[in-house]
Amino acid sequence: MTEQTQPTLSARGLVKKYGRVVAIDGADFDLYPGEVLAVVGDNGAGKSSLIKALSGAVVPDEGQIRVDGELVHFRTPLDARKYGIETVYQDLAVAPALDIASNMFLGREKRRKDMFGSLFRKLDTADMRAEAQRVLDELGIGIKSITQLVETLSGGQRQGVAVARAAAFGSKAVIMDEPTAALGVTESGQVLALIDRIRERGLPVVLISHNMPHVFDIADRIHVHRLGKRVAVVSPKTHTMNQVVGLLTGALRLGEDGEIHEVEAAVRAGLAE
Ligand SMILES: Nc1ncnc2c1ncn2[C@@H]1O[C@H](COP(=O)(O)OP(=O)(O)O)[C@@H](O)[C@H]1O
Ligand SMILES: [Mg+2]
Repeated sequence: MTEQTQPTLSARGLVKKYGRVVAIDGADFDLYPGEVLAVVGDNGAGKSSLIKALSGAVVPDEGQIRVDGELVHFRTPLDARKYGIETVYQDLAVAPALDIASNMFLGREKRRKDMFGSLFRKLDTADMRAEAQRVLDELGIGIKSITQLVETLSGGQRQGVAVARAAAFGSKAVIMDEPTAALGVTESGQVLALIDRIRERGLPVVLISHNMPHVFDIADRIHVHRLGKRVAVVSPKTHTMNQVVGLLTGALRLGEDGEIHEVEAAVRAGLAE
């Protein structure tokens, strides 16, 4: 991950306003090949808005987004998916009344071809089930039956299905917004193990998380977001949890010299320069 490596996904100067609320305030972003990048920040810092812009769910007012260096203009999540970017949103999007295989192929169902090669209306259920099972097995998600309804699954298993769907279709990057926020210790551990396996498969992952031990456990780099912008990128190998918390609250800042500095309370409050 040197300076010469081209980011898989990057953004410069993103801005998104909701009326007078500036959700994204000139944010930069870089995700490099093969890495797990954690995005941390206080509630309301604009983390979800940032990843929504990167995944086409929000159209920024200003700024550029690039995939492998190519300038892109995502208008919908489908646009981002076409570039191989899959997102697991914070407000979990699974359909509880459908089975696991149907959830995994929601919106991109496989259909059987007829003898002339044109598409029948009929769904290729067997093929989708086999594919869903293969992905779940590969990612080590233990589920008894692929035909089980999602509403009968535990929170962790549901999250597993959402993550597996992203991993199955993502060819460029997988983005996850607080995937363990609603989960217990065991289930969180399973999601972290999944992220590890996705990285092993060579796919970079963006993980938004509040959980510092999780972040320090799994991330290669940590993007610190504050007041709508990226304020620092640090490594869990060279920086401590306390330093990262200091950066995201504004008590500390990363200087031009690459060192961490304390910020005077008066400066933080905007009373002095
Ligand atoms: N759809 C929206 N309409 C109005 N305000 C929004 C909307 N989405 C986010 N915001 C506001 O933008 C800011 C950033 O929110 P968000 O991106 O969800 O932050 P985070 O994920 O870091 O908690 C907050 O002040 C939030 O209230
Ligand atoms: Mg959020």
